[in-house]
Amino acid sequence: MSQEKIVIFDTTLRDGEQSPGCSMNTAEKLEVCRALVDLGVDVIEAGFPIASPGDFDAVRQIAERFSDRSTICALARSREDDIEKAIGALQSARKRRIHVFLATSAIHREFKLKMDKKQIVERAVASVRQAKDFCDDIEFSPEDAVRTELDFLCEVVERAIEAGATTVNIPDTVGYATPSHYFKVISHLKQHVSNIDRAVISAHCHDDLGLAVANSLAAVEAGARQVECTINGIGERAGNAALEEVVMAIRTRGDYYNVSTTINTQRLYPTSHLVSSITGMKVQRNKAIVGQNAFAHEAGIHQHGVLQERSTYEIMNAEDVGYVGENLVLGKHSGRHAFRDRVTQLGFELSEEVMQQVFDDFIQLADKKKEIYDADITALIESRIDVTPDRWHLVSFQTSAGSSSIPTATLEMQCEEEPVLCDAATGDGPIDAVFRTMERITGMSVRLEDFDVQSVSRGKDALGEVRVIVSHQNREYHGKGISTDIIEAAARAYLQALNKVDADRNGASPPRVSPQL
Ligand code: KIV
Ligand code: ZN
Repeated sequence: MSQEKIVIFDTTLRDGEQSPGCSMNTAEKLEVCRALVDLGVDVIEAGFPIASPGDFDAVRQIAERFSDRSTICALARSREDDIEKAIGALQSARKRRIHVFLATSAIHREFKLKMDKKQIVERAVASVRQAKDFCDDIEFSPEDAVRTELDFLCEVVERAIEAGATTVNIPDTVGYATPSHYFKVISHLKQHVSNIDRAVISAHCHDDLGLAVANSLAAVEAGARQVECTINGIGERAGNAALEEVVMAIRTRGDYYNVSTTINTQRLYPTSHLVSSITGMKVQRNKAIVGQNAFAHEAGIHQHGVLQERSTYEIMNAEDVGYVGENLVLGKHSGRHAFRDRVTQLGFELSEEVMQQVFDDFIQLADKKKEIYDADITALIESRIDVTPDRWHLVSFQTSAGSSSIPTATLEMQCEEEPVLCDAATGDGPIDAVFRTMERITGMSVRLEDFDVQSVSRGKDALGEVRVIVSHQNREYHGKGISTDIIEAAARAYLQALNKVDADRNGASPPRVSPQL
């Protein structure tokens, strides 16, 4: 029996990006979008064009470049100016969708919108009609649907479909639902909305109770045929349903759900890494599907079982998700050809220029470190595919520290083609001294919010990865650096964050206005 298709709607670039610490500039969004298209995502929610000129431009550029294989969607509140902006951003898209939303729950009606039920229905209908004049593919979301009175939810959904909505999304905006509750809401809509067959029902779940994926699957069981999700589950507060988990649950338990997706699952792991690298949101080691431990068998009894027959303890094949283990792969004498092959096996497609840069980094690393693991190669690639154009570069650094000396750093830095600048500072430790010197040279002053160091692979000579979060004028910026020397890794991480601040100061992305209804 043929399986019905589940439409995968990715909102990493909108709901995911909207969450604190995950903001991306346009170049970064384009890079993530390219990966989402390669992953085979059906609908990509590219942004919220009214939010800022930067958001508008990102959606416009994504629509221009990526709307052949995936449908590009823009979000709008149920307001004329929002919908006009969404239309403007999607002008050049071949496959396009407008997603309009309006809150329907009593609490939102009373305190946020100050509108009664009749006004809500009228506004929803008018908005769907306005969007429908531009394109056929319209999604309508009654925001906070899960906390909306069921009768009223049915009425709004029915009227939105009548006005032209082709997808009706049922958001659990605050992550309040449980699987059986959400199943009942979707089933109720199927039974009581007279024209429900004319639209696709969509699930959109937040993870406040850790149930977003379970709720999405319950919705599929009840008849939803679109699932909205984000890579690594990033998103508001505890995040959204994780795309990789939804997709692999549907694939692994196709026998039970009897549905399928057209996601190229071998791209899940590289896409997860890319999003983590660009947003700076780390993937926890034991995260399902894409965590470093997801396919590791440490317990002897499990290892024994897997060696005898894989399926004793494995329900998925690591290769099916493009998993990169910590296999010992290459060393100092491995040639360019072997290196290129490995990069391809790891699922990356690099331009000749980036391949050359990563190969040079690899040779340098192989001089310092005997055994190069897949995780090291991935880290080298990720540090080269940072797409923020950097103005400031670190030319050289030197630090001195010890139990009886004052930690001091001396740095040489260069801004674009200008003369190299040199300065020094002291600090609480050598890393603090490096950060202070960088601020003196660049003239930027930021607040260090978070500092994290961990080893990328195994062994005493492992690469150290440092991640920092800094804040400047109420915005957070992430930076990541890797090196066998953690002071250098810290310097590179801080420099990356400073370069992002610098790009914003030079107008790369003006501050975003948070739209309120
Ligand atoms: O969570 C939510 O309600 C949303 C809507 C805009 C769909 O993200
Ligand atoms: Zn949401």
